[in-house]
Amino acid sequence: MDSISRRRFLEQSLLTAMAGVASVEVARTEPLVARRRVAANDKVRIAIIGMHGRGLDHIKGYLGLADVEIVALCDVDSAVVPFALDMIDKKGMPKPKVFQDIRELLAMKELDAVSIATPNHWHSLAAIWAMQHGKDVYVEKPISHNVSEGRRTVETARKLNRICQAGTQSRSHKACRDAMEYVHSGKIGKVTLSRGLCYKPRNSIGKVTGPQMPPSSVNYDLWLGPAPQKPVERRQFHYDWHWQWDYGNGDLGNQGIHQMDIARWGLGKEGLPNSVLSLGGRFGYVDDGQTPNTELSFFDYGDSHLIFEVRGLKTDGLEGIKIGNIVYGTEGYVAFSADYGKASAFDNSHVKMMDFSGGGDHFANFIGAVHSRKASDLHGEILEGHLSSALCHLGNISYRLGTPQPFNEKTKAFGDDKDAYETLGRFEQHLTDNGIKLAETKYMLGTRLKFDSRSERFRGNSQANALLTREYRKGFEVPEKV
Ligand SMILES: NC(=O)c1ccc[n+]([C@@H]2O[C@H](COP(=O)([O-])OP(=O)(O)OC[C@H]3O[C@@H](n4cnc5c(N)ncnc54)[C@H](O)[C@@H]3O)[C@@H](O)[C@H]2O)c1
Repeated sequence: MDSISRRRFLEQSLLTAMAGVASVEVARTEPLVARRRVAANDKVRIAIIGMHGRGLDHIKGYLGLADVEIVALCDVDSAVVPFALDMIDKKGMPKPKVFQDIRELLAMKELDAVSIATPNHWHSLAAIWAMQHGKDVYVEKPISHNVSEGRRTVETARKLNRICQAGTQSRSHKACRDAMEYVHSGKIGKVTLSRGLCYKPRNSIGKVTGPQMPPSSVNYDLWLGPAPQKPVERRQFHYDWHWQWDYGNGDLGNQGIHQMDIARWGLGKEGLPNSVLSLGGRFGYVDDGQTPNTELSFFDYGDSHLIFEVRGLKTDGLEGIKIGNIVYGTEGYVAFSADYGKASAFDNSHVKMMDFSGGGDHFANFIGAVHSRKASDLHGEILEGHLSSALCHLGNISYRLGTPQPFNEKTKAFGDDKDAYETLGRFEQHLTDNGIKLAETKYMLGTRLKFDSRSERFRGNSQANALLTREYRKGFEVPEKV
């Protein structure tokens, strides 16, 4: 794009932004609609928001439930709608209404619930708006783009008595639930360390030389929503936003949030940690991605800790696990598979003690709670989603406040934490195995940040506290108070 067309594009974007704000009533902070009581034999009338990738799984999931009717679809990209309509038509279900703007969708009275599968930067705002309009909510992981808006999502659900399910579906899998019961009943002794592993090779997203035009089928102003007004700076419009901080949270907040949720669940802690330290980098290629493709995060809970490893280059697994979890106790450990359908417990001599298996239906669990009106029936109640999402955000904040560090200078950042140094050693080895010349390479060593779980604020670090929220674009502000 040359500089004239770039300027025109930016001007056009701003005009579109202003038009969007002017033409649609801005959502209020107070509840607008009293919700209908969905009787036991009534169908729950639901809308799917965002349907390029994961939203199609939502449609499939709800089409499989007899007590649900998909009455509306909402996407800012008109090109993705025909496929979704076709899925519904093929099931012989009535044609849903189609919307582009969430705010117009939420004005629909004949709607009980929404299921949100937009990019991360929209999750909390869409969920909060929906709850304010009397709807129950299923919101994809991570449930927030930053810690503060996640807390506000929880507060909205509490204040307005809404059912709000976080989209970490492992919570509904029998294998995970049974294995967690085993862990929490003390069968592996006292839990001392919970490991989350996200070894998922990711390719370069390429590098563009300047601002790109969004696809013509996309209302870019609505796609941006709460994010700053900036042109597209990546080759592939959909999905690759995961690797740009304005919209995504890196792989820690993409695949990683699933394993982070299981790791925190295994640890059995109610709150957030006392401190966090992350390190890593985007190794192996230079592209438009900003988030690390390789990131180690260490969370200190006082008497136990959580270590999370993201590896985006090729690697062997740890104990045969590439994506999964290992929860260690004083008397054994439990390993969890990538598909959440299997887990196994071992004693400290590596003798298998127990296998766990079985899946579950997270969408059905949500619909069940919409009927019962009991948030306690939810397997992934929004508070759980908030805390696990917040851990990913804390890890990323530490990383983003880091300083470049040569690999050949042994860091003292971990004190006498043997588990941390062991993890760092394996991390360095896998980079070497991928041809990264450590002697010539620096990584980002994050700041160790102290955290107060009660106030959900960092202790004595204003830079870190500033990253707990964001500046919201006018018309798309997450309400300060709910
Ligand atoms: N639980 C899981 O296993 C799982 C799996 C994959 C993705 N996800 C989550 O689902 C979400 C979507 O992921 P994806 O891979 O489908 O992303 P994607 O970028 O491929 O698709 C997102 C869709 O949302 C639409 N959209 C954007 N803003 C919107 C708005 N304001 N209103 C309506 N539609 C809007 C886009 O046009 C696009 O069609 C992400 O948050 C991701 O983390 C969860």
